[in-house]
Amino acid sequence: MKIAVLPGDGIGPEIVAQAVKVLNALNLNIEMTEAPIGGAGYEDSGDPLPEATLQLARDSDAVLLGAVGDWKYDKLERHLRPERGLLRIRKELNLFANLRPALLYPELAGASTLKPEVVSGLDIMIVRELTGDIYFGQPRGISTLPNGEREGVNTMRYCESEIRRIGRVAFDIAMKRNKKVCSVDKANVLEATELWRQVMIELSAEYPEVELSHMYVDNAAMQLIRAPKQFDVMVTGNIFGDILSDEASMLTGSIGMLPSASLDANNKGMYEPSHGSAPDLAGKDVANPLATILSAAMMLRYTFNDETNALKIENAVKKALAQGYRTADIVTDGCKQVGCHAMGDAVVAALN
Ligand code: IPM
Ligand code: MG
Repeated sequence: MKIAVLPGDGIGPEIVAQAVKVLNALNLNIEMTEAPIGGAGYEDSGDPLPEATLQLARDSDAVLLGAVGDWKYDKLERHLRPERGLLRIRKELNLFANLRPALLYPELAGASTLKPEVVSGLDIMIVRELTGDIYFGQPRGISTLPNGEREGVNTMRYCESEIRRIGRVAFDIAMKRNKKVCSVDKANVLEATELWRQVMIELSAEYPEVELSHMYVDNAAMQLIRAPKQFDVMVTGNIFGDILSDEASMLTGSIGMLPSASLDANNKGMYEPSHGSAPDLAGKDVANPLATILSAAMMLRYTFNDETNALKIENAVKKALAQGYRTADIVTDGCKQVGCHAMGDAVVAALN
């Protein structure tokens, strides 16, 4: 197993170090190689996705990523900014299927800002399309109109095959869960998502056992707060998925708990926490490493087909939480508050 380890910026290096520690503790036959991405890539070679990093990622079976971005790069030209490195590696590796499970650990029911009865037992899988939509559509840019006024343009576009392949991922996952897919769109206003809805309906004919429903994105945002347990699998485009997955993360207590997998058609994948680089927390040993540790579990499950060790990690996380260990973002009454490093240690200790 060859893994490219890309810590990135901000809290990236600290949280990735904890996930690497957990993987090492499993004594698997893994070769891990580190490389810079994002702001770290820019510092290293003037490129948020250095050629050597991309090559390493191509040559690896999986990528473990921390996070990218720091305010200090906000003034760089757009193509040099850290986020571009992340978007490019997703696109270059064709990682079109982004899985973001929002799962509430019972111990954290009190850490959510919602009432425990609304969130307890929550288990949603958000399937976000990751290489299309307004994130990549052309034309894009900021230009000056003949009257001297500036204009910003982005293009929302999806072709049928892109919709169908992400739809398939969602339906296949639903078949292994509660057989419900909610497709989220804005078909009442946006043609790109009107097509999305049509293709989802066509595809559903191949999955007679799965119950397909549709929801406009504004309603979905509301329903996630009102009654989140109505959802099993949600499938949606890149921009809606970006927003709804951040929202769903808070149902679980903290965005620091939400892992993700980004897969290509062959289950090669990049695994990263759904949260960002939190530059304000960097280097303080306070970040929550659990989303990254849980991302490593997803890596074992989806790329390496190793359900046993994936479960081992997930159970160790549960055990550490049950033992009362909490980082600052998930503190509850009577817990043992620890830092990033100590949380990693608690998970390693719980492995055995
Ligand atoms: C995410 C992030 C990224 C995105 C940013 C950092 C480019 O918000 O992974 O959700 O918008 O996809
Ligand atoms: Mg996001």
